[in-house]
Amino acid sequence: MEQATPSGPTYTPISGRPVRWGLLAAGGIARSLAEAIAAVDGGEVVAVAARDGGRARTFADEFGIPRSYGSYAELIADPEVDAIYISSTHPFHRDQALACIEAGKHVLVEKPTTLTVHDTEAVLDEGRARGVLVMEAMWTRFQPVVLDALARVRDGRIGTVRSFHAAFPIPVDYDESHRLFDLDNGGGALLDLGIYPVTLAHLVVGHPTHVHVLGSRVATGADSLAALQWMTTDGAVVQVLTDSLSHGSTETIVRGTEGSIHLHGPVNNPTSFTVRRGDEEELVEGGDRRGYQHQVEEFHRCLAEGLLESPLAPHADTVAIMTILESARRELGVRYPQEDAPLHT
Ligand SMILES: NC(=O)c1ccc[n+]([C@@H]2O[C@H](COP(=O)([O-])OP(=O)(O)OC[C@H]3O[C@@H](n4cnc5c(N)ncnc54)[C@H](OP(=O)(O)O)[C@@H]3O)[C@@H](O)[C@H]2O)c1
Repeated sequence: MEQATPSGPTYTPISGRPVRWGLLAAGGIARSLAEAIAAVDGGEVVAVAARDGGRARTFADEFGIPRSYGSYAELIADPEVDAIYISSTHPFHRDQALACIEAGKHVLVEKPTTLTVHDTEAVLDEGRARGVLVMEAMWTRFQPVVLDALARVRDGRIGTVRSFHAAFPIPVDYDESHRLFDLDNGGGALLDLGIYPVTLAHLVVGHPTHVHVLGSRVATGADSLAALQWMTTDGAVVQVLTDSLSHGSTETIVRGTEGSIHLHGPVNNPTSFTVRRGDEEELVEGGDRRGYQHQVEEFHRCLAEGLLESPLAPHADTVAIMTILESARRELGVRYPQEDAPLHT
């Protein structure tokens, strides 16, 4: 993959000292990132902010974080913070990311980067223009087991890829106020769950010429079921399913003219894979270290090298994947109330 070559402003690489992290929001996934940063070398969480200062303080006490704030603005203004991890729900990512970038902070932003293609481009463009690293927290892209399987596909181990199939159902009890179903809070299976198999398909077999979609919405108007199908520019067929209401297997299969690769375990965090070619069968184990640590390490590596984007998560791919999701979402008739809000730059 090509390295991004900064053409505009850039920054002094961060090496020889820990990256000083700030956590923007203190919800579910923020806990996992705090644990991941503590588990790897090269960084430390120095501050956390939540809308409620008391909750921020409790979070800080639990994770041994020195500073806590009851507003995001205080965190963004903290001169002792190098990088901010944004883990609010999706509708807030855009303006928060732009505010962090404007303050000169590097940004790791939860998936999806924003609600729309337009806003995702705006955030990523602004990051490059201001010379800071911006990366979508699409942790699947950084898992060694995924990169290992991808290398075999690219080396021609299974011949020419003919098809890719992945299903990612995660059953959530229906509750119209849950963020997966609440349109005001970015609800919808596509942006929350579908983004994983779509990312993997895009990574392994490539961009579509045209996306077909079937699916359904719940009473709130959010998509809960979506089956996407596309043909890539190289002639491979992709079939991807996501569902926020059903149970079942989440495995991934790539089929080629000489063999196949079967990724085992969750689509977003595979545990191992099997390569089959003729009579040969090889099981490749993913190792003990999965989860978010590889993503944090990649962010640290990019900062040490002064990169504006990770070669493992190029901005162009983030936008391309958002384009697929947006076309599917529109086809299903899902529209977010925030879609037409003006940018605050
Ligand atoms: N990478 C992964 O594996 C993974 C897993 C789960 C989620 N995610 C992503 O991470 C993001 C957050 O998910 P989560 O499960 O952590 O969600 P969550 O716990 O429901 O919410 C995260 C934070 O968002 C803010 N927030 C929630 N609802 C809000 C509202 N109505 N108005 C204003 N702020 C609100 C709150 O910030 P305060 O703490 O400041 O109040 C909350 O703590 C989503 O974009 C999701 O796609 C990623």
